[in-house]
Amino acid sequence: MTGFTARDVPDQSGRCIIVTGANTGIGFEEAKVLARRGARVLLGCRDPGKGEAAIARIRKTVPDADCAVLPLDLADIESIRAAAEIASAEPRIDVLLNNAGVMYPPLRRTAQGFELQLGVNHLGPFAFTALMLPKLAEAGGARVVVTSSLAHWSGRIPWEDLNAERRYRRTQRYSDSKLMNMLFVYELDRRLRIAGIPVSAIGCHPGVAATDLGRHSGLLRPLFPIVGLFLNSPAAAAWPGLQAATDLLASPGSYYGPQQLGGSRGPSGPAKRSDAASNPETARRLWDISAEMTGIDPELSGAV
Ligand SMILES: NC(=O)c1ccc[n+]([C@@H]2O[C@H](COP(=O)([O-])OP(=O)(O)OC[C@H]3O[C@@H](n4cnc5c(N)ncnc54)[C@H](OP(=O)(O)O)[C@@H]3O)[C@@H](O)[C@H]2O)c1
Repeated sequence: MTGFTARDVPDQSGRCIIVTGANTGIGFEEAKVLARRGARVLLGCRDPGKGEAAIARIRKTVPDADCAVLPLDLADIESIRAAAEIASAEPRIDVLLNNAGVMYPPLRRTAQGFELQLGVNHLGPFAFTALMLPKLAEAGGARVVVTSSLAHWSGRIPWEDLNAERRYRRTQRYSDSKLMNMLFVYELDRRLRIAGIPVSAIGCHPGVAATDLGRHSGLLRPLFPIVGLFLNSPAAAAWPGLQAATDLLASPGSYYGPQQLGGSRGPSGPAKRSDAASNPETARRLWDISAEMTGIDPELSGAV
């Protein structure tokens, strides 16, 4: 549907949803709405203290919210494995909403030596999703949501220097990681369908909203509150992710984003993706190299 907002989220009673990066920004707003609609929400957070504080904030407006912190550092494969083990012990997982991300940090590396934006924005969600697929498949009608960005339009896959060993341009690397999100959700959808696994892969982007994402934006940082006045609030930026996670009319492989001002603000609906975002060869190649780098294969290769 078009014009989707938080009001359109159907009753989520009996469902369990993981939201990564749920302690602040868009993920926090998504977690709050889902809890209000009756879902059990696992807040995937790298700092459990921040996760507990977020739950306390949710309970101020949703006193009976069924929430728990899921310790998850997407910059460490060992933490991702531990989180998947904890989450898989839940009676059911209906949605994995991959929301966490970083933008424009100075050159830093994850525990396994991946450039941070590559690691946290793409390889981490790739590995976590792969590890959660068997559990998701048990639920019947489960979904994996991947959060991309308008920035994916300027992304490219830097095959010659994927891990930024030679050169690091932090703004370009963010766009590249968001194109990877698009290619991941495209390839995941394709492989799930061929394998006949009852899990849908759905993409979304939040438009533009003033959140903590700008923490590495240096001189541009003071502009963020102004952005918030004209573009999306964090609460409105959550609508595409909520639509991808819960809209009963959403079909596998779809992609949602805000409908106003070039996709930067407003209620959610179907969004446009770049041609590069649905290139089958690039998507397949990125999938293979992601499995190789993380050492975690979603085991859908038989479906190719
Ligand atoms: N805001 C926008 O305008 C915009 C536009 C396009 C796309 N997006 C996308 O929307 C998503 C959410 O962004 P946001 O604006 O809500 O940003 P945000 O306010 O900075 O929130 C990002 C979340 O990701 C978490 N995170 C960062 N590194 C992590 C790690 N290693 N492991 C686990 N969690 C980690 C953060 O945790 P900490 O608080 O502990 O750092 C935080 O909870 C991102 O994927 C972003 O790329 C946002």
